[in-house]
Amino acid sequence: MAGRDGDGHPGSRTLGGMATAAALCDLGPGEFLGEIDVLLAIYADAMDADAALLPGRRELMRRHAAYPDFMALQARAPGYAAGDHRAVLGFSYGFRGEPGQWWYDAVQTALSRTIGLALTAGWLADCVEVAEVHVRKDQQRRGIGTRMLTALTAGRPERTAMLSTPDRETTARRLYRRMGFADLLTGYSFPGGSPPYAVMGAVLPLADPVAPASLPRSASPRV
Ligand SMILES: CC(C)(COP(=O)(O)OP(=O)(O)OC[C@H]1O[C@@H](n2cnc3c(N)ncnc32)[C@H](O)[C@@H]1OP(=O)(O)O)[C@@H](O)C(=O)NCCC(=O)NCCS
Repeated sequence: MAGRDGDGHPGSRTLGGMATAAALCDLGPGEFLGEIDVLLAIYADAMDADAALLPGRRELMRRHAAYPDFMALQARAPGYAAGDHRAVLGFSYGFRGEPGQWWYDAVQTALSRTIGLALTAGWLADCVEVAEVHVRKDQQRRGIGTRMLTALTAGRPERTAMLSTPDRETTARRLYRRMGFADLLTGYSFPGGSPPYAVMGAVLPLADPVAPASLPRSASPRV
């Protein structure tokens, strides 16, 4: 598990002047699978998930770990021994979107109907799917979600990032918008029936929400 942090000082990066304490660590597919129950517990806490749905979610996460160019991040609190699960504050993962993946195929069909084949290809032909971003409830609103999404997509070779999120005004939806994601489809029910989702896309690199606040006023782009 390799530590990573954009400024080289794990645990000290500032978001708009607010200190955050977590270090972000890469998890390879094997490490991700080894931590899967800890990550699932974070998911359950963050999403208030019904316990009956967790085995299915676990299986989905296992399958995702084998997808192409899978990348996962874990946010960890400093001061805990390696392997101490109390240190895990959040996680995020994504992979290259490709035909044959359930989410990709569903979104491709729905998007093609609404924005047409050419625009759909522009969004999906070279995309990373951001599959999950979750932060433990007691650690939310400290900048961890923003940092994970930034780090997960930074340096990805794909042209776009794609995701779906419940079609409501949530913290997640605001976070995605702030980082440059736009609604491509709203009120969408996935095959088999689901509550309404928004499908969102962004051209990479994502907007850096730290940058505007840290720039001197004279260096801000004029509009
Ligand atoms: C969505 C989610 C991952 C965001 O994680 P997070 O760590 O809370 O995200 P951030 O802290 O970067 O930003 C969240 C909010 O806190 C604010 N914030 C960030 N640092 C802060 C600080 N130090 N002090 C006060 N507020 C802060 C941000 O401005 C943002 O405000 P907003 O909701 O008004 O837009 C998290 O809320 C979560 O796990 N939600 C439940 C699961 C979920 O919905 N996952 C996504 C499914 S698609």
